Amino acid sequence: MQIHHTIAAIRKALAEVRHNTGRIVFVPTMGNLHEGHIALMRQARHHGDCVVASIFVNRLQFRPGEDFEKYPRTFAADCEKLVAAGVDYLFAPSEEELYPEPQRYVIEPPVDHANILEGEFRPGHFRGVATVVMKLFAIVQPQAALFGKKDFQQFMVLSAMVREFALAVDVIPGETVRAADGLALSSRNGFLSSVERAEAPRLHRLLSQIVTAVRTGNHDYTSLTAAAEAELQASGWLPDYVAVRRKFDLQSPAAQEPADTLVVLAAARLGSTRLIDNLEV
Ligand code: PAF
Repeated sequence: MQIHHTIAAIRKALAEVRHNTGRIVFVPTMGNLHEGHIALMRQARHHGDCVVASIFVNRLQFRPGEDFEKYPRTFAADCEKLVAAGVDYLFAPSEEELYPEPQRYVIEPPVDHANILEGEFRPGHFRGVATVVMKLFAIVQPQAALFGKKDFQQFMVLSAMVREFALAVDVIPGETVRAADGLALSSRNGFLSSVERAEAPRLHRLLSQIVTAVRTGNHDYTSLTAAAEAELQASGWLPDYVAVRRKFDLQSPAAQEPADTLVVLAAARLGSTRLIDNLEV
């Protein structure tokens, strides 16, 4: 695997790739890689000739007081995993390289995509995500890019950005990878104490129960999500939201929307760790 830390070096390397082989598939990450990321790298291989990963902890998508400073940085271990997964190129810029001056030109996603669910609790988050992904796309110029569905709203926002700007990038979803007890793999799981780790699968269990209820004809989404929030609270969590939404645009569904067009999403704090998860109906 070739590792490049500068925009000039990765551009030069990928210009040669484009000349020789063709289709570049890109998997942007913030590092601290787990099986979920590695599954995306393997999936990427089926969508092109050359797999490019990036590692960059993007300050723009964190609010002051969030976990930017303590976000785990595990570069050497990440590189080993990427090599084992057969990744061809890694772009790992410093902050000074990617943002040599304040990034004043930004991508501002529409409020009905960016200010709901995650965006309500993390104002500006999707502006930061969309801006860095647009910049990484401009550098890597991939023909396809993979994003995990664990961050369902991120996938929706980035798909819409690519569609509305007519970018020549296929946005491909990756399935969420889970531990045997159902907990979705996440870099933030490492922050959980052993007691919290034992409690954490409740989030997935509650989402599964709502999915089963909706599939069997229960359309009272308000009661279903309120009951889940109440159980989280009673079990020591601080829920931000549990919501049933349309997959396409994450807006509230009409009463008789077909079940298979829906997704159930949740975010809740367990101790000092904020976990998110979702399940498609
Ligand atoms: O999903 C992530 O890890 C990040 O939001 C991304 C897409 C790499 C942008 O920083």
